[in-house]
Amino acid sequence: MSTDRPVLKIGKHQPRYPLIQGGMGVGISGFRLAGHVAKHGAIGTIASVGLCHDSPLFDTKKHNYFEVNQIVIKEALAKAREIAGPEGVLAVNCMVALTDYDTQVRAAAEGGADVIVSGAGLPLRLPEYTKDFPDVALVPIVSSAKAASLITRRWEKQYGRVPDAFVVEEPATAGGHLGAMTMEQVYDPALSLDTAVPEVVQFVAEYMKTDTPVIAAGGIWDRQDLERVFALGAKGAQMGTRFACTEEGDASDRFKQAYIDAKEEDVVLIHSPAGLPGRAIKNPFVASYLEGKVESKPCFANCLTRCLYRKTRETFCIAMALIDAFNGNWETGLFFCGSNVVKAQKLERVADIIEELFR
Ligand SMILES: Cc1cc2nc3c(=O)[nH]c(=O)nc-3n(C[C@H](O)[C@H](O)[C@H](O)COP(=O)(O)O)c2cc1C
Repeated sequence: MSTDRPVLKIGKHQPRYPLIQGGMGVGISGFRLAGHVAKHGAIGTIASVGLCHDSPLFDTKKHNYFEVNQIVIKEALAKAREIAGPEGVLAVNCMVALTDYDTQVRAAAEGGADVIVSGAGLPLRLPEYTKDFPDVALVPIVSSAKAASLITRRWEKQYGRVPDAFVVEEPATAGGHLGAMTMEQVYDPALSLDTAVPEVVQFVAEYMKTDTPVIAAGGIWDRQDLERVFALGAKGAQMGTRFACTEEGDASDRFKQAYIDAKEEDVVLIHSPAGLPGRAIKNPFVASYLEGKVESKPCFANCLTRCLYRKTRETFCIAMALIDAFNGNWETGLFFCGSNVVKAQKLERVADIIEELFR
């Protein structure tokens, strides 16, 4: 593959390999995973959402959750940089749906992120929050050319700049919150990588007339998958699930064991409190939620701008459920995963994955 491997250049940043490790909240891709991925030549991504949950600073009586988020984003970037070295490319993934989205983005730029990747909503105001940091590359996550076009036109008009890359994420296979409005839309062929990647590539060529790279995400595991998305015109690939189950992954061993144990019938879609479909492992918590019964821990941070639990007490506190999963509480956690989780057979090492993909 080495002869036709694309070169991935996002703004001023060029990793050795055309690969991004996807941001995985809450805490699943922290400084350790991101730092090691960047050290080994791909782009390592820290997910900013809920990063403060295991910080000693987080004590609701003394500190505001939103203030601590900003501190820990900068701390995580500094620790990841120590591992990655000066040449490593580090990204921060910030979700638009968060109440403190703007201050999280600013903290990521101030903390030295090379790239900010942003989805779970349209990042229409992202350039405003990073205007003092022109070298920080800005990358929206989209699921269609329509979304790519809307963001690009708005940024051009309002901020005089365009995205430095697009991640095109396929809801039919990806993990976490999915870029689809309804459960039915998750499997809409119009949102498949086969359709959406060439459409966004065409939009870039015909409208933007730049070499802005398109990066494919969702269901990518091995070299064959990489070759498939490169053939569609992608200049890079983003992988989440496979990297979560690594020695360097920041989650607890029990979280990773849940990935290793997961079988096809355990992977389900749920309605998330954020109002989006999500993909997760059917553990006791999810099984009872799917049957309409759920007991939730209380909301502690107002973390989402739109939260069904906070509004109507429907569903559950997603932050608490994701923290439980991070800590490995099998009974009560929400274990987000991509459909590829069934391929996780053992704990891998970041260096081995990258070596296998690009050797
Ligand atoms: C546990 C988990 C948490 C995730 N959290 C986020 C997140 O916080 N923000 C985001 O944009 N994407 C999130 N994702 C999506 C990944 O970054 C990635 O794009 C997607 O899972 C790619 O598909 P794959 O897992 O099949 O490789 C998450 C995925 C997983 C598995």
